[in-house]
Amino acid sequence: MHTATANTVARAKSSGLEGVVVADSELSEVDGEQGRLILRGFSVEELGHHATLEQAAELLWNGRLPDAGDRRMQRAFGEARRRAFSLVPALGPALALPDAMASLRAAVAHVAENEPEPGPALAGAVAVFAAAWARRAEGRAPVAPDPSLSHAADYLRMLRGTPPSAAAERALSSYLVTVADHGMNASTFAARVVASTGSDAVSAIVAGIGALKGPLHGGAPGPVLDMLDAIGAPERAAGWLEAELAAGRRIMGMGHRIYRVRDPRAAVLERAIEELERAGDAASRRLPLARGVERAAVEVLAARYPERALRTNVEFYTAVLLDALGVERRSFSATFAVGRVIGWYAHVEEQRRSGRLIRPASRYVGPGSATQ
Ligand code: COA
Repeated sequence: MHTATANTVARAKSSGLEGVVVADSELSEVDGEQGRLILRGFSVEELGHHATLEQAAELLWNGRLPDAGDRRMQRAFGEARRRAFSLVPALGPALALPDAMASLRAAVAHVAENEPEPGPALAGAVAVFAAAWARRAEGRAPVAPDPSLSHAADYLRMLRGTPPSAAAERALSSYLVTVADHGMNASTFAARVVASTGSDAVSAIVAGIGALKGPLHGGAPGPVLDMLDAIGAPERAAGWLEAELAAGRRIMGMGHRIYRVRDPRAAVLERAIEELERAGDAASRRLPLARGVERAAVEVLAARYPERALRTNVEFYTAVLLDALGVERRSFSATFAVGRVIGWYAHVEEQRRSGRLIRPASRYVGPGSATQ
């Protein structure tokens, strides 16, 4: 694990403010006790296994789940990718930044505030700029989008240079839909705060990207893969994990602020990986190792924190799935943003409609306070 990540994670503490309600929302409900995630009335299992990202966007943005044959949103996303690609030459140094999320933050800031369809424009920009950064990082030219493809298929195509198989498209689609929204998580809150001031959607999404960049939020899957590499074989897992805890480090992909049981998204992704492997189209086959490490991590954490319920979170199988799709680990967080931008935009619009400024309070503990 990178030292900076390990230190940040080792120092992380609860704020004591979890559970504070800052908005009413129709978008998603996270039940941390039962391990359930509902997206506008549909379970994450139902959507994750069957919906495309365009269908999830229609559901989250407009409140209706369209038929698979309804291509309106797919056309809007395709057109938005084409327009975003025309901005690439004007992005200048933004695409040359060494970190994918820093690059995405700078690049998305170039999207015009007055786009006629801001949701598709932002979704298109995130996918096109994330893929263009990844190509550049490999010393290759960006690949122009194919607006006739689904968003998931075209993102993989723009990353890898060749159209994906149906199995790979389905697996990425499962991932993107599964992570599209998740209650008032940190990046969604950041985006809503910006939207609540009456600012524009581009500023709000840039704020979301900034929050997602942190290792406690969207940055965990890369280190999960580093961990699987370092462990190498299931029988080495318990010893390796115990040594990590003894060194004061956290186990990446385990634990969650809300879930006290296994994150339901982990099962959706685990099944997506199984299906990809069964189709013979996985670039890597880490599922047996990952399952062994997961079992060992749950046991080691239960022994160390018997009073906590530290279980697998979404990032654990995200790492395995994206790696199996041939996505480089340096692009994992940006790929998360390709899915999560759908939820961010839904929340931005919902917040804007409420017309309410989010202005929480802090507790003064400085000189002269009662706590001094
Ligand atoms: N590995 C080791 N210890 C962990 C842990 C992990 N993954 N997750 C929590 N703990 C420990 C903490 O160190 C803390 O112990 P302490 O009181 O001795 O300091 C205790 O359990 C706190 O548990 P909890 O309140 O459930 O965690 P949190 O809400 O503060 O943190 C996370 C939630 C997600 C930040 C945390 O579980 C974590 O850092 N996980 C690893 C990073 C990760 O996978 N992030 C992606 C989240 S989707």
